[in-house]
Amino acid sequence: MKQKIEEALHVENLTVNYDKQAVLWDLNFSVPAGKLVGILGPNGAGKSTFLKACLGIVTPITGKITFFGKSYKTTKQKIAYVPQRSSVDWDFPITVFDVVLMGRYNKLGFWKRPRLSDREAALEALELVGMTSFADRQISQLSGGQQQRVFIARALLQDAEIYLMDEPFAGVDVKTEKELILLFQGLQKKGKTLFIVHHNLASVETYFDWIILLNTCLVATGSVKETFNEQNVMRGYGKSPVLLDEAAKITQNTFQGM
Ligand SMILES: Nc1ncnc2c1ncn2[C@@H]1O[C@H](COP(=O)(O)OP(=O)(O)OP(=O)(O)O)[C@@H](O)[C@H]1O
Ligand SMILES: [Mg+2]
Repeated sequence: MKQKIEEALHVENLTVNYDKQAVLWDLNFSVPAGKLVGILGPNGAGKSTFLKACLGIVTPITGKITFFGKSYKTTKQKIAYVPQRSSVDWDFPITVFDVVLMGRYNKLGFWKRPRLSDREAALEALELVGMTSFADRQISQLSGGQQQRVFIARALLQDAEIYLMDEPFAGVDVKTEKELILLFQGLQKKGKTLFIVHHNLASVETYFDWIILLNTCLVATGSVKETFNEQNVMRGYGKSPVLLDEAAKITQNTFQGM
């Protein structure tokens, strides 16, 4: 008998509007558990909105999203989120260590004091993202890439089953990006499912084993092997992967030269 593959995510008839304008249009798909998923699509394609719909931050006009067959409300302890960096304003006076410790609040409840084991786990998470020496620093006094790593540490502390990360590599250097992808692959080996919004098409094949390609509608989804091809990239971006790769290199060089 064929074993039933567990679905980590199931999306049905999902439509999201902002000001009467459809941003996500009638999405239908599911993702098996244990995948490292790249969420791809051009600027404005609805990638961040999709994650926000998953988290109940935006309300769809139709459709539903379930995790392991259950609503977000009943599974939220198992879901960790790293927001897109530009969407967070960290003027709030709080240390790096305390931001990471917030990852435990879901489990603890706000009324309980963190235990020694929680504090140790927070330090461990900081160590994993290479931010131990910044533990006592105010979060506002970090560079963008360092803040990003702190958010990732906070998500790690949640000990989730599903990780939703909105451009975790934006603004981090090449070495950190490599370390982070190894970390994410390590989580996948432990059976976790990760959804990562990603822009660099050149690394899709090495980073992910599943993709969701969005451009308001669902352009394609499935294993990288079967789905990440020129035809789908053309449909999603309106340009060939080679051209996009060239464009990415030019942009990178421009930034590095600045
Ligand atoms: N709060 C909002 N109110 C109105 N329109 C919005 C709002 N947030 C996003 N949009 C619009 O919805 C569309 C999808 O935005 P979204 O942030 O989901 O795109 P994205 O794929 O994450 O893009 P990027 O790659 O630039 O992060 C865009 O056209 C955007 O301008
Ligand atoms: Mg976005």
